[in-house]
Amino acid sequence: MTGTEFHRATAPGALPVVGHALRLLRDPLAFVTSLPNYGDLVEIRLGPQKVHAICHPDLLQQVITDDRTFDKGGPLFERLRDFMGNGLATCPHADHRRQRRLVQPAFSRSRLTPYGTVMTRELGSMLEGWRDGAVIDAFPAFSAFTLRTVSRSLFAADLGQDRIETIQQSFVDAFSGALPRMFVPKALQRLPLPGNRRYLNASRTLTATVGGVIAQYRQSVTGHGDLLSVLLAARDEDGNGLSDAEVRDQVVTLLVAGSETTAAVMSWAVAELATHPDAARRLRKETDYVLAGRTATWDDLPHLPYTACVVNEVLRRYPAGWMITRTTSSETQLAGLTLPPGSTVGFSPLILQTRPDYYRMPERFNPDRWLPHATLDMPRIAFAPFGGGARKCIGDAFAVAETTLALASIAARWTWETTAATDLRPALSASVIRPRRVCLRLASRTPERWST
Ligand code: HEM
Repeated sequence: MTGTEFHRATAPGALPVVGHALRLLRDPLAFVTSLPNYGDLVEIRLGPQKVHAICHPDLLQQVITDDRTFDKGGPLFERLRDFMGNGLATCPHADHRRQRRLVQPAFSRSRLTPYGTVMTRELGSMLEGWRDGAVIDAFPAFSAFTLRTVSRSLFAADLGQDRIETIQQSFVDAFSGALPRMFVPKALQRLPLPGNRRYLNASRTLTATVGGVIAQYRQSVTGHGDLLSVLLAARDEDGNGLSDAEVRDQVVTLLVAGSETTAAVMSWAVAELATHPDAARRLRKETDYVLAGRTATWDDLPHLPYTACVVNEVLRRYPAGWMITRTTSSETQLAGLTLPPGSTVGFSPLILQTRPDYYRMPERFNPDRWLPHATLDMPRIAFAPFGGGARKCIGDAFAVAETTLALASIAARWTWETTAATDLRPALSASVIRPRRVCLRLASRTPERWST
């Protein structure tokens, strides 16, 4: 297809100053999925920033495979850099290959199995605290679980409950502060307002807490054989090691990227299952057969095909990353448009993952569409919850395994319904889209059957 065949448009309804930001905040899923109605490359305004939103698979392919020209940048990554610094997810193309080489070994197939042991242990301790009839606020519970899992998988030393809670609170303050900062002019971000102070404090606390862990590691005589030890021992061709700041940026990056995202996906999953009894029944049938009430382990993964379909369907409908941005590093052509250096391009996996030409009745939550015999003949790019190209998520297999083990283990032991406090309207934070609140009332499943 040549560039001239693409249809370019401007999304209607931009307001002075804020542009489309209010519409986006009010109903992010509806706003993002409405964009293909206007064209293949649609101009939107988020506060002062003009963003070219990509709504065609060929354009997305061009952008994600040319990460030199379409480099990390734009409102999302400018804010994430406030606390992730120059780590793997936020660094520019110039630093990316070296960083990815350093971090990749921690996500090799052979490393994933031991992470599975951590996942099972952390799941066990989360579920041990659940009681028949109790009400669980899902997102905070899953965030604590995923943060503990990622930290204990990648950093062998126990961060301790206090540090976990401090990091979790810093995430809440940093993410809630980062979102409005994407839309308001820089001058306003510097005013001594309570929100600005909270944001700065969160970033400083995160830096100091993670810095403390690194200092402790540097002092220990023996290596822990984990990612942090590998990063601390790494040397470049000149024999220079990574500075504390560089190591810290990687640690914060993995903690942020590896916790809120997966917790959001798990929260959508339990919410959808509460209103789709047929899917819930089939999930339980599978977990009864495979787990008989116990917590799932890594070796169970190949035996949980229906659970995997549920996870895929949740990743299709709620891919966590709601709008991913890039900045052009040089003049380039996109859909026949000449973009000068510094232009912002945005894409959301949701746009392609809800197209009716790829997915029949895309608005329906239907795990069956992922059964092997039902797999549609669609381009790979039509399902990209983890992005693609060189900047594809490094933790994709980790996240899928963690979500699958969690859903199977929960379904094996509990049924649940959502309470009136549940609010499934999507809430945006800087990095993910999640339900505002999912409160689950738990009912224990025939415990006498499992305890024998
Ligand atoms: C369901 C959960 C997750 C989702 C939906 C998700 C999604 C994504 C997406 C879409 C990207 C690409 C962003 C871009 O193109 O700019 C990405 C990158 C990344 N993710 Fe994930 N992610 C998840 C879980 C994880 C986990 C568990 C980890 C680590 C433990 C992780 C670490 C990273 C890192 C480090 C990057 C940057 C990779 C690079 O640029 O080389 N993510 N993720």
